[in-house]
Amino acid sequence: MRYLSALLLCALALPRAQAAGHSIEVLHWWTAGGEAKAANVLKQRWQAQGNRWVDAAIDGGGGGSAMLVLRSRTLAGHPPQAAHLKGVELHEWARLGFLRPVSDLARRGQWDMRLYPFVSSTLNHQGQMIAVPVGIHRINWLWLNQPIFDRHKLTPPRTWSELLLVASKLKAAGITPLAMGDDPWQLAILFESIALGEGGSDFYRRAFVNLEPKVLTGEQMQQVLRRFHSLRTFLPANHVGLKWNQATQMLIDGQAAMQLMGDWTKGELIAAGEIPGQRIRCLPAPGTAGRFSYNLDSLALFRQPQSRQDQAQQRLAELLMTPEFQRDFNRLKGSIPVLADMELNGFDRCGKDAAQALQRAERDGSLVPSVAEGMATPPRVQQALQEVLANYFADANGDAAETAQRLAQAIRAVQAEWQPGAEH
Ligand code: GAL
Repeated sequence: MRYLSALLLCALALPRAQAAGHSIEVLHWWTAGGEAKAANVLKQRWQAQGNRWVDAAIDGGGGGSAMLVLRSRTLAGHPPQAAHLKGVELHEWARLGFLRPVSDLARRGQWDMRLYPFVSSTLNHQGQMIAVPVGIHRINWLWLNQPIFDRHKLTPPRTWSELLLVASKLKAAGITPLAMGDDPWQLAILFESIALGEGGSDFYRRAFVNLEPKVLTGEQMQQVLRRFHSLRTFLPANHVGLKWNQATQMLIDGQAAMQLMGDWTKGELIAAGEIPGQRIRCLPAPGTAGRFSYNLDSLALFRQPQSRQDQAQQRLAELLMTPEFQRDFNRLKGSIPVLADMELNGFDRCGKDAAQALQRAERDGSLVPSVAEGMATPPRVQQALQEVLANYFADANGDAAETAQRLAQAIRAVQAEWQPGAEH
């Protein structure tokens, strides 16, 4: 009898459990080793609540391909329920009416009091919160293989001239100095770290946030460009098509000495069993100690025809903002939780350093939006900039003064369609 009533209870409970489950499709580009492990945290927690996860993962660092897929799917009328979407581009999607704001949720959850102020303002579109923040990445990092430095009795560079000197010595000793590929996105990351290190945050902001023509073409910019160009001889022989995570693997394997890349690199190190900050060290990119170029990862919710899907989106947003998710995801991803008052117990030294640098930079005005990551300008400006930089880098005879002019022209050409500052 007891057995029968237990069976009956199960039978009654089953349809309810199924009805309570939600299905969500998430488009993202977290496909490299560390990224995938972090994305898996979200997937597992979601499934543990009795829900279904539909993975729309599109390969490619920086998300260029993912954004193409997102655009074509949305135009065809079936956007995913959630997508990794960030920076200025978010505001364009919001303006076109595709996004479902999360302001109610934010109000109820007092996000304003829990988030870093710059996180709230980045996601604010005309008074509405337009995405759920997931993690904060620092772009201006230098990763280096300490055993290689020890073996060659080299000191980690703190300025770009020191880096050039170290790179020349390594090259002479038959070691690839810089692990990186030649795609415009990786090059833009290198370029922005040089700009921040050599020019400082004021110059950086005037050039890449305000897009001041005089600053874009000025002597300081030309100097940054020359510095950037001078690094072209230090890339690996197989740099054409080399992905950022393959470059990190070279660093881990001791096939290259340094990498300039955001701290998703750290996720890759962790996935490979390294303890970031030990054998592979993390240092601020030369000249950028105390400065912080940020990339804010966020998930945007796309409007759906069925209200049942709205509930799934809401549940997902709630999950993303729990401290447990924030801790576990960001620890694996290499980023910093978006909740400002979270303890960073269990985070590695690089993560703790990054959080401290972020707080300091936010206080003293040295926090800048990453131009390579689309935090500073709309995608069209970002692409124009990346193209000019990549062409210059590819050309052994590239001229800095001409490139600076091209930079300003390319930006002017697309700027007519967009007015800086009009969004916020
Ligand atoms: C960035 C993204 C990061 C990171 C990186 C490499 O654009 O915001 O989360 O994973 O690309 O794929």
